[in-house]
Amino acid sequence: MKLSERVAIVTGAGRGIGAAIARKLAENGAKVALVDINENDLKARVEEIEKNGGTAKYFLCDVSDWEQVNQTVEQVNKLWGKIDILVNNAGITKDNLILRMTPEDWDAVMRVNLKGAFLFTKAVVRPMMRNKYGKIVNISSVVGIFGNAGQANYSASKAGLLGFTKSVAKEFAKKGVRCNAVAPGFIETDMTKSLPEDVKNTFINNTPLGYPGSPDDVANVVVFLCSPESDYITGEIIRVDGGMAM
Ligand code: NAI
Repeated sequence: MKLSERVAIVTGAGRGIGAAIARKLAENGAKVALVDINENDLKARVEEIEKNGGTAKYFLCDVSDWEQVNQTVEQVNKLWGKIDILVNNAGITKDNLILRMTPEDWDAVMRVNLKGAFLFTKAVVRPMMRNKYGKIVNISSVVGIFGNAGQANYSASKAGLLGFTKSVAKEFAKKGVRCNAVAPGFIETDMTKSLPEDVKNTFINNTPLGYPGSPDDVANVVVFLCSPESDYITGEIIRVDGGMAM
């Protein structure tokens, strides 16, 4: 298995894309720490992985809280002795047109989507540098590339993640730490389930392949970016979007 002996942390792993990433990393032999703020979801995901013969443990942690992040990373390090892989996937939306968007909604999205990735990266790079090896994957979005009316906060956070990805890639390349981003298009999850039908149809009409992606479509690319097969790739953004942003 291509990830045996690897230790991975996946944020926002309770459901959706993060859950698929955690499951696929475990299927490929990694020991996986699932991080989320929803304990029921976390418990269910860990049980599923264990039932399939994988190794997983969950950590209740808000990615925007430095104390909690630091503590979680310390616990994972203590449990499995190292950290090889970090997937910054936790994300939220608080959509509105700018004239109606509150400063609180701006801050909330930035805190989880952008600051959360910074905090987890800051906490894991030391153990990664000690082992001279690490893989960090940030889950951005196509709207971070082309913007979206009604999602100024979300698009800015996802665009911010792209600049962050390249900066981390440059800062830690010499230490053996690779950092890449995945930019999904329209993926069927709980996050997109609640979108109005006309918005969903617009996304699908703008997708050359003509259908929404699945969490597994994203997870397959993340597993590749976490595996030795992608060791010569860093600072890259891979779209998983059915062609939407080309
Ligand atoms: P989701 O809403 O189904 O799952 C997000 C998970 O993150 C939830 O389990 C939630 O509890 C967790 N979470 C939220 N705030 C957190 C916090 N402060 N600390 C820890 N965990 C927290 O979302 P989905 O669709 O699975 O998206 C996952 C990632 O992919 C997000 O970053 C999202 O922005 C991104 N994405 C999703 C797309 C889609 O079409 N679904 C498209 C492009 C990007």
